[in-house]
Amino acid sequence: MNTLIDQLQSSIGQAHVLTQGNLEAFEKDWRGRIRGRALCVVRPGSTAEVAAVVKACALAGVSIVPQGGNTGLVVGSIPDDSGQQVLLSTQRMNQVRHIDPANLTVTVEAGCVLQQLQQSCAEQGLLYPLSLGSEGSCTVGGNLSTNAGGTQVLRYGNARELCLGLEVVTAQGDIWNGLTGLRKDNTGYDLRDMYIGSEGTLGIITAATLKLYPQPAAQLTAWATVASVEAAVQLLGLAQRELGAGLTGFEMMGQFALSLVDKHFPDMQVPLWRDNAYCVLLENTDNESQEHARGRFEHVLEQAIAHNIISDAVVAESVAQARKLWHIRESITLAQVQEGLNIKHDISLPISSIADFVAQTEKTLAKAIPGVRLVNFGHLGDGNLHFNVQAPEGVDPAVFLQTHEDAINTLVYDSVKAFEGSISAEHGVGSLKANTLPHYKDPVALALMRRIKQALDPQNLMNPGRVLERS
Ligand code: FAD
Ligand code: MLT
Ligand code: ZN
Repeated sequence: MNTLIDQLQSSIGQAHVLTQGNLEAFEKDWRGRIRGRALCVVRPGSTAEVAAVVKACALAGVSIVPQGGNTGLVVGSIPDDSGQQVLLSTQRMNQVRHIDPANLTVTVEAGCVLQQLQQSCAEQGLLYPLSLGSEGSCTVGGNLSTNAGGTQVLRYGNARELCLGLEVVTAQGDIWNGLTGLRKDNTGYDLRDMYIGSEGTLGIITAATLKLYPQPAAQLTAWATVASVEAAVQLLGLAQRELGAGLTGFEMMGQFALSLVDKHFPDMQVPLWRDNAYCVLLENTDNESQEHARGRFEHVLEQAIAHNIISDAVVAESVAQARKLWHIRESITLAQVQEGLNIKHDISLPISSIADFVAQTEKTLAKAIPGVRLVNFGHLGDGNLHFNVQAPEGVDPAVFLQTHEDAINTLVYDSVKAFEGSISAEHGVGSLKANTLPHYKDPVALALMRRIKQALDPQNLMNPGRVLERS
């Protein structure tokens, strides 16, 4: 292995090949549940250097785990425990290469942190609309490799819909320059869409050309209370009819999820959660004046109250207040971490089935494990729930997981399947769900995925064991 490390050092510089010191930040998953061990961490500074690293590893038969911000929630961005994998961090490839205001596109390197990209675009009056709770650390490459969702999907789509072109280093170390800003290009198989969502298993994304939008003139945010998931779905339908594409976000948060934010972050002052089964966060953006948009938005909420869909609502009076409401929503994940280990499910369902799914699955869970607590929240507008399961009060979370995790996953995923949903809506598969996927994915689709993997990465060196289980 020393020859490989020597080779890597001469390709990208000794300072950027880390073999010693504390590598925990690269080796531990975001939730702190698993730690791997890398042969070394490489930090290339350019696409050519990524290509050199991949070529050297291919020659040595050593596998590579790409890593952006390491905020992934399915254990896909850390090495396994063999001590034999090279971890390739894109941290140093963080430049916004070019903003084209007339074409409404930006070309950016894979390691650019999402929030930095948003800010660079905003400085030119433009919007890159992808928005996630992890945006202060996650990267463009990680977003595309997981086809990230977040809180603006309702209006702008997932990361996939926001991407026009890619630059990729293939598993052989070749550089594919597909950095096009074209909105129409029917010249054969869509290679871009194959790499998006492939979680580093087919190649390494080094840069991307992404869609931009004009910054909206008006932005309104409301926090409303509903008695049931059914009522939340009714509110969604009403808001979609009245606001059309102006409805940019629609999040639902269960009472227990909000109680965790209240418990662990009392300064946030979570509104209206105590007496209501669910709260909903709605966002409306528009290109008309703030006053005009506010009138229409408030009218929707008034209608919802008149029809007993919501019981109460507050509309943010300022951008700062709106940010506070979003901060509460985005803090549920951290509040859960504070509360202790839990079982995460990132699922999607047809919106028309969500209320029945929650009612039935909640009942079955409560019967199987009395006292179990549901941290149910998510992007209701996209049919995406984070249907997480926490140990009953007073039960040690570690013992709970050891005893019940497999059975709970089966119970929840079987129910998702029965309601024609997906076991991974936006976080991906990683290694966490690689063994579960074959039970729920169409076998022909899985066989095609294996053939694509075999064709593009015949040595199985690109993030092996992620998405597709090790054979
Ligand atoms: P990493 O975690 O570093 O990597 C993720 C995967 O992509 C790994 O398989 C890795 O090998 C691969 N990869 C990374 N970079 C590259 C590259 N350049 N080329 C090829 N493969 C690569 N996700 C959502 O979808 N919606 C949310 O709302 C959301 N909210 C979150 C909130 C919090 C608080 C946290 C901690 C996570 C959240 N996530 C969410 C999950 C996570 O932030 C996203 O999946 C994000 O896109 C990962 O980006 P990253 O740069 O951290 O990627
Ligand atoms: C969210 O919507 O907050 C994220 O997907 C993170 C999570 O599921 O915990
Ligand atoms: Zn989410």
